[in-house]
Amino acid sequence: MVALILHTGVGSRIIKKDIEKVRQKLIEKISETGLNMLRGGEDALDVVEKIINIMESSGLFNAGIGSVVQSDGRQRMDAGIMSSDLRCGAVAGVSDIKFPISIARKIIDTTNSICLIGDYAREFGRKYKIPEISKKNSDVKGQSTTNKFIGNTVGAVVLDQNGKLTTGTSTGGLFKALAGRIGDCPMIGAGIYANQFGGASCTGIGEDIIKTTLARYAIFQVEQGYSAQEAANRSIDYFKNTTQSVAGIIILTKNGEYGISHNGKHMNWKYSID
Ligand code: GLY
Repeated sequence: MVALILHTGVGSRIIKKDIEKVRQKLIEKISETGLNMLRGGEDALDVVEKIINIMESSGLFNAGIGSVVQSDGRQRMDAGIMSSDLRCGAVAGVSDIKFPISIARKIIDTTNSICLIGDYAREFGRKYKIPEISKKNSDVKGQSTTNKFIGNTVGAVVLDQNGKLTTGTSTGGLFKALAGRIGDCPMIGAGIYANQFGGASCTGIGEDIIKTTLARYAIFQVEQGYSAQEAANRSIDYFKNTTQSVAGIIILTKNGEYGISHNGKHMNWKYSID
């Protein structure tokens, strides 16, 4: 059995039906790509990296080249990736990188560290030839501030043929956030978490996701015997009651069951199993 679930972020504003449809079509296409990779026996870590790369390089989501800008007009991106064997990597506040999730992945493969920040993360990425954002694209920095992008933070949780789960999340953060601000995505246990029971990827207001360690909270519910959907509902209820803020979560368990919950106005997601 293989399974995957992905999301393109929770939104706190109602969006037009046609935009929602375009977004959903895209997610379904990306999901099919991931499912085909899994059917071919590819590793969960590779599949999460690949499908998040597609979204980071599309310019259509608040991640990678489509990232929103911070208060100084500069894009700074966060990303994190974690597998059920507890191996994890993350980058925080990195600029000019097309695939932030790939730097996070390289940290797992080549170091004993977990998270690199800013220029150090970019230099590390250069060493491994992780593609940078071309001059042409960096010249349109701020484009995404006009809400031309059609999606938010992106995330995925994948179960491969060997029973390995991997979760990943990538984001440009919050529009016009204080320069240098870091959100929940690179914080293990907040924006992402995975262990032998399941994996979770969060979206929403990072500060409040950090305060509630939302991804770890969700997987703890699974450990306590709740189904993936019950765990997702319990997590968002707890989050809402504790912070009165907005978040969404996707969960995939070791049995391939999924859960999804959010308290925003919309959240596109897609679950596939084979
Ligand atoms: N959840 C994305 C952020 O707050 O940075």
